[in-house]
Amino acid sequence: MWDVRTRAGKYAEGQKFPLILGTDGSGVIAEVGAQVKRLKRGDRVYAYSYDNEKGGFYAQYVAVAASKVAPIPRTLDMLNAGGLATIGLTALQGVDDTLEIKPGEYVIVHGASGNVGMLALQFARLRGARVLATASGSDGVELVRRLGAHAAIDGKHDDVLAAAREFAPDGIDVVLAFAGGKELTRCLDALRKGGRAAYPNGIEPEPRKRKGIRIKSYDGTPGVREFERLNRAVEEADLQVPIAAGFKLEEARDAHRTMEKGHIIGKVVFSRAGHSRARLRPSRRSERSLM
Ligand SMILES: NC(=O)c1ccc[n+]([C@@H]2O[C@H](COP(=O)([O-])OP(=O)(O)OC[C@H]3O[C@@H](n4cnc5c(N)ncnc54)[C@H](OP(=O)(O)O)[C@@H]3O)[C@@H](O)[C@H]2O)c1
Repeated sequence: MWDVRTRAGKYAEGQKFPLILGTDGSGVIAEVGAQVKRLKRGDRVYAYSYDNEKGGFYAQYVAVAASKVAPIPRTLDMLNAGGLATIGLTALQGVDDTLEIKPGEYVIVHGASGNVGMLALQFARLRGARVLATASGSDGVELVRRLGAHAAIDGKHDDVLAAAREFAPDGIDVVLAFAGGKELTRCLDALRKGGRAAYPNGIEPEPRKRKGIRIKSYDGTPGVREFERLNRAVEEADLQVPIAAGFKLEEARDAHRTMEKGHIIGKVVFSRAGHSRARLRPSRRSERSLM
C-alpha cells in the first residue's frame, strides 16, 4: 500500500515526480563501490531502499547503500526475501526492541494478517510468547492459524475483549498493533495493569495514552546489525513470507489496482516469472519433524 499511496502523491512533500517506486527487493549484486568489503559481485541479496534518491525497485538495476543490503537468509528464496526488508525489520524491532517480549507472555498481535503483522506473529512465537492474533476476515484468520497463532479471531467482527479474557484470564501482558481504531482500544482494555503496548508510526487513528500501561510508537530501522539480527531470527523461526500475488514489472498498473482494492492477504510482488498464485510453502521445521 505504501507504493500505492506514494504514487497517488500522499507523501508528495519532499518527493519529486517522476520517481521510481519500490522500497523492498532482492536480486544479484551487479557491482559494489570501492569501499564495500562485506558484499561482492554475484552475491544473492535483499535490500531496503526507502527514501532512495536514486530510485526504488521497480527497475532492472537499483543502487542501494551497502548498509541497507543483506545476504538472503538460508531459509528463504529470492521471491520471498524480496518482500522481507521493511516488514521484517519493523516486525522484529517491535517484538524485541520496543516490547522486549519474553517467553510465556500473553500477547495480542492486532492486524496479524497484514504484512508486518504476519511476521510479528511468527517472531513473537519464536520468543516463546502465547499469541492471540486478531486478523481480518476468515481468510486472514486461516492464514494466522497456519502461521502458528495459539488463538485467532476476526478482529473486525468478533469480540476481542471476550476472546482475550478466555485466552488469558489474568490479563494480556502485551499488545503489538498494526491497525488503529476502536478495536485496538478493545485490545488495550484487555491488558493487565502494568501491561505494555506498541505500534509502528503510521497506524490510524493512534491510541490515546492511558494510566497504568506503557504505550510506545516506533519506526523500523535498517542497518548492518539490524539485518544480521533479522536474518538470524528469520532462520531460527523458519519464517514464512506469504505471497498474495505476483506480477511482471510491466503489469505494475494491474498490481496497483489489486492493492487499491484492499484486503490483501500476503505480499504483492514483482518477478520475471510474473503471475504466481497465493502460496505458503510447507515449513521446513514441519517437514523435518515428519521425518
Ligand atoms: N513506521 C514504520 O517504520 C512502519 C513500517 C511499516 C509499516 N508501518 C505502518 O504499520 C501499519 C501496518 O503496516 P502493514 O504494511 O502491515 O499494513 P497492512 O498490510 O495493511 O496491515 C494492516 C492489517 O490490519 C488489518 N486490520 C484492520 N483492522 C483490523 C481489525 N479491527 N482487526 C484485525 N485486523 C485488522 C487489515 O485488514 P484489511 O486490509 O482487510 O482492512 C490489514 O490486514 C501501517 O499503518 C503502516 O503505515 C510503519
